Amino acid sequence: MNNKQSKELISDPRANADWQDNIQNLHELVPLAKQRLNPNTWGYLTGGSETETALRRNRLAIDELAIRPRMLRDVSAIDSSTSLFGRTLRAPLILAPIGSLESFHPDGAAAVARAAERSEIFMAQSSVSKPELEETAAAAPNAAKIYQLYVKGDKDWVDEQVNRAKNAGFDAFCLTVDVQHYSRRERDIANRFVKPWRATALDDRYLARLNWNDVERFKAKHALPLAIKGIMTVEDAVEAVNLGVEAIWVSNHGGRQLDHTLGSMTVLPEIADAVAGRARIIFDGGVWRGTDVIKAIALGADAVAIGRLTALAIAAGGEESLVRALDLLTDEIMTAMGLMGAPRLDMINADCISPAPATADPRVFSAFPLLDKNTLEGLT
Ligand code: FNR
Repeated sequence: MNNKQSKELISDPRANADWQDNIQNLHELVPLAKQRLNPNTWGYLTGGSETETALRRNRLAIDELAIRPRMLRDVSAIDSSTSLFGRTLRAPLILAPIGSLESFHPDGAAAVARAAERSEIFMAQSSVSKPELEETAAAAPNAAKIYQLYVKGDKDWVDEQVNRAKNAGFDAFCLTVDVQHYSRRERDIANRFVKPWRATALDDRYLARLNWNDVERFKAKHALPLAIKGIMTVEDAVEAVNLGVEAIWVSNHGGRQLDHTLGSMTVLPEIADAVAGRARIIFDGGVWRGTDVIKAIALGADAVAIGRLTALAIAAGGEESLVRALDLLTDEIMTAMGLMGAPRLDMINADCISPAPATADPRVFSAFPLLDKNTLEGLT
């Protein structure tokens, strides 16, 4: 597909016609997803940890930025493409790793991989989602894929997972490092809901013991590019870069792990400055709109991951509704690029951003003001 287009994406023929007709705004997927999920899965998807302050700060940090548009630039051809881990992408997007994807749609990670392949963006498979990585890879052999691991075994076990990912054709590996201990997710606790993969308490020792020596050992042993996910400080970003890590994934896990962190967009610029091009920067946390993606790119991200939006979109109707969501999100990105006078991603930098007061009460769905927050954000 030709990336240099402006508005044709809205009717991308790759998306199933029904979804094209029926879903015209991203927020229209939300009530559909809610209808199709049981209350426990809905709470698992939407919630954060404890007071959900970190979750709300993710949104607030995005809302507190304004875009400075430049006029009278030729924006007749918009190119939102970029490259990451040797793959060319139609837009700077990654479908974030989501555990238990099969509880959002029976095809689970395979449907997500197929949607990524059709949309020409990256997907990251979580090690606690089904099907197994080989089956996901076979379902979408040309998809750009990252394998994300929760370390639940010893060195040999980790090496085995890396080799499996490499042999299955994954482009990169990701260690998520912000799950040293599982957090208190009060919506799940209130629902008395325990994910099946959480039942194996013994395995948690490995996540709690994980340290920089393990990263060093990984880099000495494996050639597959490595991303470290869950970095929220300059100190840790620099440590990772010094060990040769290829990508720093700035994230507070969507406000689902340690509560009361800063919003991830707040720490992005200082981390990008410190990394200074020595590693790629992936960003996530509170991204629902094209302008959210633009802001992250402006502050130094090379690619932006979407978590809850991926899970919601797959819950609404599997692969087809996720492809539709990605078309709409990419259309929003390209619309913003046109209106801000930046027809290529490399024209988007900190000069495009200005601090500004937020106008919305930051909540999980506050990027969608046409939704009724009371019916959608409660426990059921
Ligand atoms: C996640 N996240 C996550 N991260 C990870 O590294 N491995 C995992 O298995 C999961 N599982 C998971 C399940 C669900 C339901 C959600 C919502 C999130 C975190 C995810 O990759 C990402 O960091 C955040 O979701 C980004 O924030 P937003 O986009 O949800 O605001």
